Amino acid sequence: MKRKKNAVLILAAGQGTRMKSELPKVLHEVGGVPVLAHVIHCVKEAGIRNISVVVGYQRERFRSLLIGSQAIVQEKQLGTGHAVMQAKAHFSRFEGEILVMPGDVPCMRPETIRRLMDEHRKSGAKATVLTAEVEHPAGYGHIIRDNGKVVGIREELDATENEKQIPEVNSGIYMFHARTLFEVLNSIKENAKKKEYYLTDVIEELVRAGHPVSSFRCEDEREMQGINTRAHLAAANKILNEREINRHQEAGVTVVSPEQTFIATDVEIGNDTVIHPFTWIEPDVKIGKKCIVGPFAKIRSKSQIGNGCIVGSFVEVVRSKVGDGTYVKHLSYLGDAELGKKVNVGAGTVVANYDGKNKNKTIVRDGAFLGCNTVLIAPTQVGRAAKTGAGAVVRAHHFVPDGETVVGVPANVIKQSNKKKKIQKNKFRRS
Ligand code: UD1
Ligand code: CA
Repeated sequence: MKRKKNAVLILAAGQGTRMKSELPKVLHEVGGVPVLAHVIHCVKEAGIRNISVVVGYQRERFRSLLIGSQAIVQEKQLGTGHAVMQAKAHFSRFEGEILVMPGDVPCMRPETIRRLMDEHRKSGAKATVLTAEVEHPAGYGHIIRDNGKVVGIREELDATENEKQIPEVNSGIYMFHARTLFEVLNSIKENAKKKEYYLTDVIEELVRAGHPVSSFRCEDEREMQGINTRAHLAAANKILNEREINRHQEAGVTVVSPEQTFIATDVEIGNDTVIHPFTWIEPDVKIGKKCIVGPFAKIRSKSQIGNGCIVGSFVEVVRSKVGDGTYVKHLSYLGDAELGKKVNVGAGTVVANYDGKNKNKTIVRDGAFLGCNTVLIAPTQVGRAAKTGAGAVVRAHHFVPDGETVVGVPANVIKQSNKKKKIQKNKFRRS
């Protein structure tokens, strides 16, 4: 069957008063990226290309997130129904179906959205509501059914004691026949208690006007987790972290203690890598096979770790590349560094990438050996198989040549003859 055109309208204009934050609610991060970015990613994965987002509160802060989407402005936040009304002109010539989704549901899966769209198309309804049975229905809109059919949605504030007990709730996600939606929106009234226009009232209006309304039940209530408070933010973080860790486990990664490990979305990890507790991995990170990571490792965005590496305890890696078989076992900071293969980074080594103005790059070639407490001041380079002595400070622009050993503060190359003498002296002492 030919698929009809689909569009999505994401509602993200609210401040999110219950967050008690200056930052708009949907720009708070979960799983290392803004809440709204998860929602946009979800609808794209579900196959929707025509994306519009209603913004209002601090809308200038949304610019980079909305590249490729249409921004629609809601000057005053007068409710979810009012937010949708602002998009009427934009969709005036649109003939297809429209998905309406709040910007604060970061755990929703694209599969669920796809199934909702399929259900909507098959049933031929003018509206299909995504619902779920939840353990704690307080705070959600409750689904009112008559003879099994959805006839309305009752917000917590307006619900009777009986209605409050209804465990089936509104996800805030719906498919609508666009033209019918905008027609009916004209007839909803301001809610007397909240002084807002509720999008949820559209359902009752559609039923009253004789339009078919359908529903689709989401099996996993965790997908519905909305973000209204800081506690919800933590709950969503937990859901996404568990989901990502499961995905890596299925791909052959050992996560020793999932509850104590934090892996953002958009992380790749090769099989037979072991992640020890209290490790923090940000989005856009790649880790190879057979690595050992942590405990207490922090791997920040845009870092790449090769195969067979060790990134051990209290090691922070920022925008750096670590080549195959390289060991960074203890207490190190690598910022904007590129390490070759089989490099050994001694305990306490620091790559000083920031000079107070710029972040600079450091290159360490294959087989180099950095003694404990080496400081490499960027921009600099350590040559192939070169060595630094314990405590060496390699100055910016003072490259260590291939195969040479540098020592001291500031680090200088040790003369070959001196080296031999020292070794002999030691031998003599030991005997
Ligand atoms: C809403 C639903 C509720 C549902 C719940 C699911 C209504 C009236 N209620 O409640 O039935 O169970 O979501 O999570 O729709 N927004 C705007 N402009 C506004 C108001 C809100 O853009 O004027 C945006 C917000 O930024 C937010 C989204 O709409 O991203 C939802 O608003 P929110 O206040 O979180 O609604 P809930 O109270 O959670
Ligand atoms: Ca919400």
